[in-house]
Amino acid sequence: MGTSDYLIVHVSPVGMGMSRWSVGHSHSERTICHINPHFRKEIKTMLSRRQFIEWCGRICLALGITSVLPNSAKAAVTQNGYHIPADYTNSLSNVEFIQQILTNPADTCRTIMWQTKKKLGTPQLEYRMIKSEQALWGQVSVDYLEQQGNGTFIYACRLTGLTPGADYEFRIANGSRATGWMPITTVHPGHFQMLIFADSQCENYSVWRNIAEAAHYRHPNAALATVIGDLTDNGQFYYHWKGWYEGAENLLKSHIFVPVMGNHECYDPQWQMCLPEGYLRHFVVPHNQSTRFPGYYYSFDYGDVHFIVLNNQFEELDGLKPGLYNEQRQWFLHDIRKNHCPWKVVLMHKDVIEYESPSPTQGDVYINEIGKNFMPDFETCGIDLVVTGHLHVYRNRRHILKGRPSDNGPVYVLCGLSGDQLYSVPISREFDKATAPQPENASYITLDADEEELRLRCYLTDGKLIDDMLLKK
Ligand SMILES: [Fe+2]
Ligand SMILES: [Fe+2]
Repeated sequence: MGTSDYLIVHVSPVGMGMSRWSVGHSHSERTICHINPHFRKEIKTMLSRRQFIEWCGRICLALGITSVLPNSAKAAVTQNGYHIPADYTNSLSNVEFIQQILTNPADTCRTIMWQTKKKLGTPQLEYRMIKSEQALWGQVSVDYLEQQGNGTFIYACRLTGLTPGADYEFRIANGSRATGWMPITTVHPGHFQMLIFADSQCENYSVWRNIAEAAHYRHPNAALATVIGDLTDNGQFYYHWKGWYEGAENLLKSHIFVPVMGNHECYDPQWQMCLPEGYLRHFVVPHNQSTRFPGYYYSFDYGDVHFIVLNNQFEELDGLKPGLYNEQRQWFLHDIRKNHCPWKVVLMHKDVIEYESPSPTQGDVYINEIGKNFMPDFETCGIDLVVTGHLHVYRNRRHILKGRPSDNGPVYVLCGLSGDQLYSVPISREFDKATAPQPENASYITLDADEEELRLRCYLTDGKLIDDMLLKK
């Protein structure tokens, strides 16, 4: 900082307090009122240069005259943790894969994550209410993940103390460079919409990009977005994550992402079962208070809905890290009983029904082990809706109670694929009340929720509506 933009506050003490003041640059001072030269000299002696700038800034903030501050001094000014954002002249362009992750409590907190190939020296996240004169710094943590020789620095910043229903914006800074301001999706009371995808795993992620972009632009005001597992074809492959993130660029910037783990997050580069390191490092999800399985399952409230994200990769994980089912079940029973949201929705990857027949029209269909393990608890705990994936086809079973189609009990919806891995699954006349046009292609779901209604609609990539279901309290 040069002397030309060195700030001086001239104070003339009257009695015990300061009654007069002025602000200016040392070589072009604008004296607003009387100057006491003796006191000015005293202040400059007592305070360091930086302390002096901050002290001046506090006075400016209190008096609402921040426009007189030079840009280089604005960022240093603080009051209750707030500062005045600097005018960065250089753009920070090497930041990629920016995403907003759901965290608890969802209405006042948010996690922002991003990545770089080269480590940022002084990564910072700055956020403020839209267009506000004052901003805050978030605490940034840095992780490093290497897959197939490709190193990625992964940054996370958890914002707390947000005001529900207020609109915020954030930018990422590093030294003299910063990104542009980007909006933070905030929680507004009442109705909200969630975009639901499943199995975005691809050989060519252009299919995922097409449906993610279509849903994003068709439903720009959706607060949340999720992929119900199998985000990539192999969670330990760098280029799969790269393809997935590039396809989801606009989706992840504009909607709060709710990650769900699938079995393809648990395969290593040799396609053997492994712990889901890639998934766990890419997504900092809400704490579940588990020391053995942090990040594997979690829950949160959003509006009038309690979401429970469960993990049913027992086949992949039990041999490597046993105990997930029992631990998660105890957590689930405790979590659901203490919650009082009107609606309770479960998101989990593997489906509850097994289709075994080779016939496309007459399936030999039954409740599988996943279903036998989970469905009784869903019934006793009053779960309203269970959304699954894994089979790459869309099926709405409506209510199932005690293993049979019913007018009561949880509704079970199998979300179709959003990638290019097409499966052929027979249609069950007994369970499958709504299906996608055959042969199956990519589809996604919108879930609209308020206190009285849950409305689920399924669309193809081109926007054609193929299912519409309304649940009422
Ligand atoms: Fe899958
Ligand atoms: Fe799967």
